[in-house]
Amino acid sequence: MSKGRVLSGMRPTGRLHLGHLFGALENWRRLQEAYECFFFVADWHALTTEYADTKGIQENIREMVLDMLAAGIDPSKAPLFLQSRLHEHAELYLLLSMITPVPWLERNPTYKEQQQELTTKDLSTYGFLGYPVLMASDILIYKANHVPVGIDQVPHLELTREIARRFNYLYGEVLVIPEALLTEFPKVPGTDGRKMSKSYGNAVYLADSSEQVTAKIRPMVTDPARVRRSDPGNPDICPVFDLHKIFTPKVERDTIIDPGCRTAGIGCLDCKGVLLQHMLPVLRPIYDRRQELATRPEIVQEVLEDGYAKAKKVAGETLSEVKAAMHL
Ligand code: TRP
Ligand code: SF4
Repeated sequence: MSKGRVLSGMRPTGRLHLGHLFGALENWRRLQEAYECFFFVADWHALTTEYADTKGIQENIREMVLDMLAAGIDPSKAPLFLQSRLHEHAELYLLLSMITPVPWLERNPTYKEQQQELTTKDLSTYGFLGYPVLMASDILIYKANHVPVGIDQVPHLELTREIARRFNYLYGEVLVIPEALLTEFPKVPGTDGRKMSKSYGNAVYLADSSEQVTAKIRPMVTDPARVRRSDPGNPDICPVFDLHKIFTPKVERDTIIDPGCRTAGIGCLDCKGVLLQHMLPVLRPIYDRRQELATRPEIVQEVLEDGYAKAKKVAGETLSEVKAAMHL
């Protein structure tokens, strides 16, 4: 446990898919073996964009926790908790908001981008602008040393570091300056070849059975130039091959799939068959565990309550130090 503390969170978007598995959960699962980890469901962060429709939020939290557990997040190693249960996050968020200059938030690239992209929502809110301050409080309240995040979150982490430095400069060395733990993760295309995403309807979910996975992979988009069985293909531009890179051993990829595709030695259906042979044994145990967990409806509540108690201890201590440093 000498390697320091890790904290990460995910917004509750509902069922998790392969993008989440290889973009975050696989990494979290490894980290929980080597670091002191805290993982949480960022339900307040979900509100920053979904404030107008909160009906599905409890369902989304539940599905996400089940998926996390099924994917191997072990609450006995890494407490898993719900952000909104820890009012300490909210109190630190308020205190940090006092010292955070608004221009720091306005020049955040993710802020500008999302405001332009999510045009169906009114994101001119105070809460949306303050998103990184809330994230900073999530991180700083645990004095986390490392924060595993995707590249899109790096500007937020940079802001967290600036806010922590400013706090320490004004009130004394209380907060730990965290580092982003940027992990290389593979490209995970959806069945239509675009980035896997719930909103594109192209996702393979952790909750999908082997039959459902097979039914999604069979018609998956391939190299569009390969129309007939006799046409040679190009694996470099084929999304199916991107999945092979995740699931199929390199030797088999290099000696059978890659040359087979380029010479039209194998057809796309055979190629997908090989993929499924490697994919299903990885996904099946996750599916089975999830089915098993779903028969114990109380498990989600139990895990989150236990996580709450463990998180509360650390968060409460930091908040006391922060308040003392500020003479509150
Ligand atoms: N903003 C993160 C995301 O969308 C979720 C998140 C909220 C988070 N608070 C955090 C991640 C703290 C790491 C640390 O993915
Ligand atoms: Fe893609 Fe495989 Fe078809 Fe080649 S053989 S185009 S890699 S699905």
